[in-house]
Amino acid sequence: MTSTPNSLFRHYLDSLIQRGTTRASLTEEARDVLRTWYVTAKKGSRAHSPSSPSSPSSPSSPSSPSPRPEPQPTKTPPPSTNPELFPEERKPSSSITLPEGTMEDKLQYLRDLAQNWKPARDLNSLRDTMVFATGNPHTQLMLIGEAPGYYEEVQREPFVGRAGEKLNQILKAMGLSRDMVYISNIVKFRPSLPNQRTNNRAPTPEEIEACLPIIMHEIQVIQPKMIIALGGTAAVGLLGEQGSVSSMRGRFHDLNGIPVRVTYHPSYLLRSDNPREKRKVWEDMLAVMERMGMPVSEKQRGYFLPRE
Ligand code: URA
Repeated sequence: MTSTPNSLFRHYLDSLIQRGTTRASLTEEARDVLRTWYVTAKKGSRAHSPSSPSSPSSPSSPSSPSPRPEPQPTKTPPPSTNPELFPEERKPSSSITLPEGTMEDKLQYLRDLAQNWKPARDLNSLRDTMVFATGNPHTQLMLIGEAPGYYEEVQREPFVGRAGEKLNQILKAMGLSRDMVYISNIVKFRPSLPNQRTNNRAPTPEEIEACLPIIMHEIQVIQPKMIIALGGTAAVGLLGEQGSVSSMRGRFHDLNGIPVRVTYHPSYLLRSDNPREKRKVWEDMLAVMERMGMPVSEKQRGYFLPRE
């Protein structure tokens, strides 16, 4: 039998189990690698499954982002489902027809639709409470995370737990607040676990795939100038690219003409108090600010740099 990294890792885990170890702590890099293996394995099994749907095949996200004037509602609406919205290989099987009207009307429609979104409900692996989005739809900057957790489910608002506090700090350092940006998640329901209390889990590729049409249509409605994908789940789901956050961050990706900056999830910064990791996220934010034409002070430029 050939030894692949996966088989060696399994072997290592088996040996830990045999020694009675029930917990192992993983670095964010290791988590990224595991996520990538998982997504790749799932993709492979779908590709070999005769019943797998042909689409989607993934996943395998000089101005300030302050409010902008709302575009005038059109009298004769364009066809609502934008085929350009989805990269060819990731067209969802379920089409969504947005109604005529204002941005708020369209978002309300998506919110109502998400509430009873059959592709997600049918999985039976997500909890019942739908958590949609928060912030200002008339913004130029959209931030997308993975899925609600315990606190988000209770308050029905994305990023209100500890990761949310960290996100608020990041926004503040950028000179922004939650009500100046639009914050959403790629999955709208908290992924369920047996005997679940406050513990959370990351969504599976199936759960992401089921919810993908909702977030893609939110993007279509908001039309942000910039998207920040918070963490690997959002990045892989939105971009349909395989890779770890470390391999995807540090540059701009393209989602149908919208630049997407991938960075570490705020919860990563909660686990790693290392200024070097904070600096990496901050460099992504500086790049976003510069690309959007936001003012950047010398003080901001120097955050989390090692002291001389
Ligand atoms: N993590 C996320 O990705 N989204 C939330 O809303 C909360 C935590």
